[in-house]
Amino acid sequence: MSMKLPRNFYKPLAIGAPTPYRELPVHLERMIHFVPPHIDKVRAKVPELLGQVDVVLGNLEDAIPVDAKEAARRGFIEMAHNNNFENTELWVRINALNSPWVLDDVLQIVEDVGYKLDVIMLPKVEGPWDIHYLDQLLAQLEARFGLRKPILIHAILETAEGVNNVKAIATASPRMHGMSLGPADLAASRAMKTTRVGGGHPEYKVLADATGNGAPRAAFQQDLWHYTLATMVDACAAAGIKGFYGPFGDFSDPAACEAQFRNAFLLGCVGAWTLHPSQVDIAKRVFSPDPAEVAFAHKIITGMPDGSGAVMIDGKMQDDATWKQAKVLVDLARLVAAKDPSMASRYGM
Ligand code: GLV
Ligand code: MG
Repeated sequence: MSMKLPRNFYKPLAIGAPTPYRELPVHLERMIHFVPPHIDKVRAKVPELLGQVDVVLGNLEDAIPVDAKEAARRGFIEMAHNNNFENTELWVRINALNSPWVLDDVLQIVEDVGYKLDVIMLPKVEGPWDIHYLDQLLAQLEARFGLRKPILIHAILETAEGVNNVKAIATASPRMHGMSLGPADLAASRAMKTTRVGGGHPEYKVLADATGNGAPRAAFQQDLWHYTLATMVDACAAAGIKGFYGPFGDFSDPAACEAQFRNAFLLGCVGAWTLHPSQVDIAKRVFSPDPAEVAFAHKIITGMPDGSGAVMIDGKMQDDATWKQAKVLVDLARLVAAKDPSMASRYGM
């Protein structure tokens, strides 16, 4: 595939558009909290949400009824106007690029509240061409409306073709913020035989060998999402952007939600979607590193001040690589501590 000249990659795509970021702004994004903005009662509660979530996202796409698409767009603009987001980021999930709503979603939202918008989440991304289209359009609109900072793009990885093209999507533009795994659409796109939104399936398992004496055989449930999530995390990390687990649909099973979120966290994701208020505390707990791990990481860093050589700490070998692992945890803990005084004291920061 032919590539853009490296020299041109970071140039604005329209005269007068803000210069794209070379490094992403450093933000804590443990949960992307979804709200349906066409519902008055929900909009009225947004001020309460601020300060409790890291990201509030107005959802315009799936789950919004067709006859409420325009009300949702208007509601989002109203909610953006009427709140002071301060430490909470404001995102929107627009409709898919092949839908009849998306052009007005982008045109109206960027014109009216583009200066308050941090990230546009783009669903059903199939390849870098989808990112290029939105990238160019956003640059034109940023120039027209005099925006000073670039609006970032977050792709949902939720089609088989998107998974095939995940590396090219991750590196398509300096406007790329990150990616979320969308297990519901992806399951449909791949003809997976599950009706769940994320999580495991009791029949996706490995059966222990038969012993010959007819004794019952243990079965171990496997993670349906492991391959895709790991592939996505590599594509994102290599591109310097962030990976997220998406939705977990069974609100009656917080333990399964927590397990899914934790697998994503351990694999390298920075956050997950929260679709229900009860999932916010789960995401906060999972995506804030464990104080005991942070304490051990801190020990590694202070035990190897310049990060070189090898030392033993509590019987475990430490070197350059574990020093870097420790730094990931301590840096994240600092980010959490800066936002959350109760966590700061648990981290001793
Ligand atoms: C999210 O949009 C999903 O399809 O899982
Ligand atoms: Mg979807």
